[in-house]
Amino acid sequence: MRPNVLHTETTHEGLRICAVIAGKRERADLRAALDLCYRLTLFPNGAEALHSLRAKPPDILILEEAPDNGDAVRLLRAIDKDPAFGSMAIIGLTSSPVSDFGLSLQDRGAPLLFRPFPMRQLTATISHVVNRAVEASWDAMPEPQRLALRKTVELFNGISDMIDAGTPVPYADLKESCTPLVSTVRNGTFKDLLNGVRGHDNYTYVHSLRIATFLCHFGHALGLSDGDLSILATGGLLHDVGKVTVPHDILNKPGKLEADEWAVMKSHVPRTMEFLALVSDVPGGVRTIAGQHHEKLDGTGYPRGLKGGQLNDLARMAAIVDVFGALTDRRIYKEPMAPEKALDVMHSMAGHLDPFRLALFRDMLLDVARGTEVG
Ligand SMILES: [Fe+2]
Ligand SMILES: [Fe+2]
Repeated sequence: MRPNVLHTETTHEGLRICAVIAGKRERADLRAALDLCYRLTLFPNGAEALHSLRAKPPDILILEEAPDNGDAVRLLRAIDKDPAFGSMAIIGLTSSPVSDFGLSLQDRGAPLLFRPFPMRQLTATISHVVNRAVEASWDAMPEPQRLALRKTVELFNGISDMIDAGTPVPYADLKESCTPLVSTVRNGTFKDLLNGVRGHDNYTYVHSLRIATFLCHFGHALGLSDGDLSILATGGLLHDVGKVTVPHDILNKPGKLEADEWAVMKSHVPRTMEFLALVSDVPGGVRTIAGQHHEKLDGTGYPRGLKGGQLNDLARMAAIVDVFGALTDRRIYKEPMAPEKALDVMHSMAGHLDPFRLALFRDMLLDVARGTEVG
């Protein structure tokens, strides 16, 4: 197998952010909040920043307007004169409700945050800017890849609202959002989806899109019908939606979770099932994928500790694909594992995963890596 064929960069590793902030303490706060996730460079003023910015423009410039100081406006003027900064996004920080700096950012449609603001507001703004750029790049893709990404991200972004509203959601709507994804598996263009979410900043969406794609392709390789592929795609996309209720510090914790944190993490399964209870006419297969993807053949999984014959084909496929996805996802706290290594690790998980289906999954990935279609 060529190890990197399915090796997708799934978060913003390498995204370069430069911040120009006068206060030493504010710079330290920003470093503490962003250093783990982005390649961050900090400067106390625009004059010091400009040389470095010109040498290599970052993806995002965070620019603070210091009180009674035209430094930020001067830097904006210098940036405007230099075409090298054409694709650089700017996020402004200010304490002043009305200023030339604020007006200038408004004119260019750039976000402006007013001090004091919680750090999560800045990180959310960065995510929004990152995702806007990534999602804009999808416009250049042909159908159905473009539609597959657009419709799944729209569905994902709307899930919190659906949960908050608590009103029934027709399954047909969810299924319809996943139909283009099934088409990309059928016509062999699904790798564009895996590449298309590279750099997207919503980890749960990226993971779910990858699981939906791999699960659907697994079913396609096994010769399953369109109806079944639709269940695999929709079940894969929705299997972790309960994670929207898990706090970010637990979801992204680099080290081992404490017992109480682990309990919160595991609660994403019942939360997902509560969401699916709002969906009218949801197929049993979608419930199985969502409810049983963390169950293990030897009964050591969760939430029910099902074992052996209690786990059907779908549960076994979902468990295999979810482990593969988790190992090969890039996270804030770990590099992605190469697919070949991930398959070796999974092979050693004796007792957890169905060995027969794992061998089929491995064969499927080998065929994808060789660029040949099966099924
Ligand atoms: Fe999960
Ligand atoms: Fe998952």
